[in-house]
Amino acid sequence: MRDRIRILIPEMEVNRRIDEVAAQISRDYQGKELHLLCILKGSVFFMSELARRLTIPVTMDFMSCSSYGSGTVSKGIVRLVKDLDDPIEGRDVMIIEDIIDSGNTMAYLLKLLGARNPASMKLCTLLDKPSRRVHHEVTVDYVGFQIEDLFVVGCGMDYNQRYRNLPYVGVIEPEDIRK
Ligand code: IMP
Ligand code: MG
Repeated sequence: MRDRIRILIPEMEVNRRIDEVAAQISRDYQGKELHLLCILKGSVFFMSELARRLTIPVTMDFMSCSSYGSGTVSKGIVRLVKDLDDPIEGRDVMIIEDIIDSGNTMAYLLKLLGARNPASMKLCTLLDKPSRRVHHEVTVDYVGFQIEDLFVVGCGMDYNQRYRNLPYVGVIEPEDIRK
C-alpha cells in the first residue's frame, strides 16, 4: 500500500539551500582539499548534490553504520557495517549526513574517526532535528535545514528503505505509519 506523503521542503528550496551551503564550504576551505565522508545509504543523494557544487578540490569515501532497524524509532545502538576504504590521518575531512536526530550515530562516528587523527573533522547535515538530541556534545558545523520532531523521507531518507529517491523532503501522514 502507498503511504500519503506531505511535502515539507520542496525540491527548489532544497536545491537553493544546498547551493548556499556549498558556497559557504567552498569559501571556508579555500586553498585546501576536502575529503568528504558519506554515511551510507541516506547521505548519498545529499553528498552528490553538495559535491558537484563545491569549487574546491574534493575526494570522497563511504562508510555505513546502522542505528535503526525498520520503523521510525532509534534503537540507540550503533553498529559499523562498512568502514572507510582509505586512511584519514592528516586530512581535512567532513562527515556528510542526511539527518541528525538523537546524535547517537554522530557521537559514535566522531569518536571512531577522531581517533584516526584527521587534520580537521567537521560535520555537515542536510537536516537537523535539535529537539531530539540526546548527545549534546554533537555540534553540527553546516546545516541545511533545522526541522521539528517529524519523521521525514526523501532526499536520501527512507521509511523501511522506501522513498529515498524523492527529490523533496516529505512527511508520511501519521495515520499511515505502522510500526
Ligand atoms: P541518530 O543516530 O538518532 O542521530 O539518527 C541518525 C540516522 O537515523 C540518520 O542518519 C538517518 O539515517 C536516521 N533517521 C533519523 N531521523 C530520520 C527521519 O526522520 N527519517 C528518516 N531517517 C531518519
Ligand atoms: Mg543516515
